[in-house]
Amino acid sequence: MEKTDKKVILSGIQPTGTFTLGNYIGAVKNWRQLQEDYNCIYMIANMHAITVRQEPAALRKNTMDAVALLLACGIDPDKSVLFVQSQNRCHAELNWVLSCSAQFGELSRMTQFKAKSEKHPDDINAGLFTYPVLMAGDILLYQSDLVPVGADQKQHLELTRDIAQRFNMKYGDTFKLPEPYIGEVGARIMSLQDPFSKMSKSDENVNATIFILEDKDTIIRKFKRAVTDSETCVRYAQGKDGINNLMTIYSCVTGKSYEDIEREFEGHGYGDFKLAVGEAVADHLQPVRDEFARISADKEYLKEVCRKGAELSERIARRTMSKVYRKVGFVEN
Ligand code: TYM
Repeated sequence: MEKTDKKVILSGIQPTGTFTLGNYIGAVKNWRQLQEDYNCIYMIANMHAITVRQEPAALRKNTMDAVALLLACGIDPDKSVLFVQSQNRCHAELNWVLSCSAQFGELSRMTQFKAKSEKHPDDINAGLFTYPVLMAGDILLYQSDLVPVGADQKQHLELTRDIAQRFNMKYGDTFKLPEPYIGEVGARIMSLQDPFSKMSKSDENVNATIFILEDKDTIIRKFKRAVTDSETCVRYAQGKDGINNLMTIYSCVTGKSYEDIEREFEGHGYGDFKLAVGEAVADHLQPVRDEFARISADKEYLKEVCRKGAELSERIARRTMSKVYRKVGFVEN
């Protein structure tokens, strides 16, 4: 990453299986575009992933697949820093220091913690609880200006700012306060089976979620089964959550506005519309599938990308880490 006066962007994604269309539209698609104008740092959040039980061999594979997927989605390691979180020790180090500035009460209010504890009542581990502190450290280590995420991460970003502010008050100016960067359209892609809940990797209903490496037939089949409403008219309106979600998806992959879409499907039923959305999504993702097949076969290249990313990211993060240790009064090595 060149040293310029460009603003710094940091974001991350968990390597818990193939990315969903929600991950892609809400985050990764924007990451690619931002590379041109910002100093971007993108991270595979494998340390976050173990807050939920993972099979070790699967986590290892999913981590390298996630690197390959980001490359396939257009993240360019010559333009951006791309790295695996656990390969840069600063993340674990800052996590501890920040956890001494995070409050029990504020962590208890995190909606993702509440949702995940309900989902895994037999494993409400401390990592699940302190997860937002690790995430705050990810962001603050790089003195990030902007954090491009989907709407579900907004609360974690607000907490990051609170923790940073509290630390700065206690120890003097140390961290830059980051701003969330949440797209106006597509920040919350909903389940195809329940337009009131977020599209998620772990949905039990296989028809609810599109995974970006799925083949064209599967993608089209899932869109054909998408839940809509009892009207027949394709228009963006209150109470038409299923159609609104499909219009958002279609708009994000084709660049068409809602008005364009309404005009295009005037006089057509939902069947035609759903088929068109499925085809557009599958065609949009075809280059990602092709690139993924090519890149994921080249294990040496992937390892080299990770090695370079770990080194570069640690070099940047270490600067903040040294400052933090000095500020809190740790003796030097
Ligand atoms: P994760 O892996 O759950 O999701 C990665 C990104 O995808 C977005 N996203 C969505 N956007 C729109 N619609 C959806 N249905 C949808 N589902 C997921 C998420 O908002 C996210 O931007 N904690 C983070 C990973 C992380 C991170 C960070 C992010 C770790 N450290 C530092 C930013 C900065 C997470 O679990 O994302």
